[in-house]
Amino acid sequence: MKKLVVANFKSNKSVREAQEWFEGFSQSVSDAVFTQLSVSIAPSFTALSTLSQGIQQNTLPCLLAAQDISPFSAGSYTGATSGQNLQDLGVKQVIVGHSERRNYFDETSQDVALKIEQAVLEGLTPIICVDLPYLDEQLALIDSAVLAKCIIAYEPLSAIGSGKNADLGNVKMAIEKIKRLASESPIIYGGSVSDQNVKEYLIVTDGVLVGTKSLDYLQFVDLLNACLLSP
Ligand code: PGA
Repeated sequence: MKKLVVANFKSNKSVREAQEWFEGFSQSVSDAVFTQLSVSIAPSFTALSTLSQGIQQNTLPCLLAAQDISPFSAGSYTGATSGQNLQDLGVKQVIVGHSERRNYFDETSQDVALKIEQAVLEGLTPIICVDLPYLDEQLALIDSAVLAKCIIAYEPLSAIGSGKNADLGNVKMAIEKIKRLASESPIIYGGSVSDQNVKEYLIVTDGVLVGTKSLDYLQFVDLLNACLLSP
């Protein structure tokens, strides 16, 4: 399986900035990247449509991901973005349960479980973010057949956006623990991943989730190039 690299813009970038990012990215990224890696881009909701068009027009083999999804299907849920809404835009994956959503939006493991259910119903692949303190609680709420369709991102809180990437040995132990609970799911790591440290994480994981270092397309391309196996 190709290693996964997911770019999470969080709520950064206007539509115009996301478009400029994509134009720069598509001109700078090499074919070798897509031969060896599965690359996903998760912009804010407002930029999904523009990036969806960009991906189609440039026939760039990267996947579009959303950063959240409604826990309900389409209907009378003002302000929510349903799985159908996302599917309609060409979204293939959705990040769920990011610690920033837990911290700032009071999202619970139960909320996350409902979002995962909706995503899978719409054929979207959930990327479930977990940290060890609530790993068991979160995964226990997900049916094993559903879990097999998910990607799990191990995201230790202290490493997110801090520039203090997690110790490789600790990541390895966490991945092994997650694997015992979700043997069929790809498991990736997120937290201050950069072009300097990405390669070591790819040895012990199925991929990485990248925040800060994805915001500048040149830095992101450097990071992707650093993942490539030598010829
Ligand atoms: P970071 O963000 O790369 O800026 O640490 C990662 C994340 O929030 O998933």
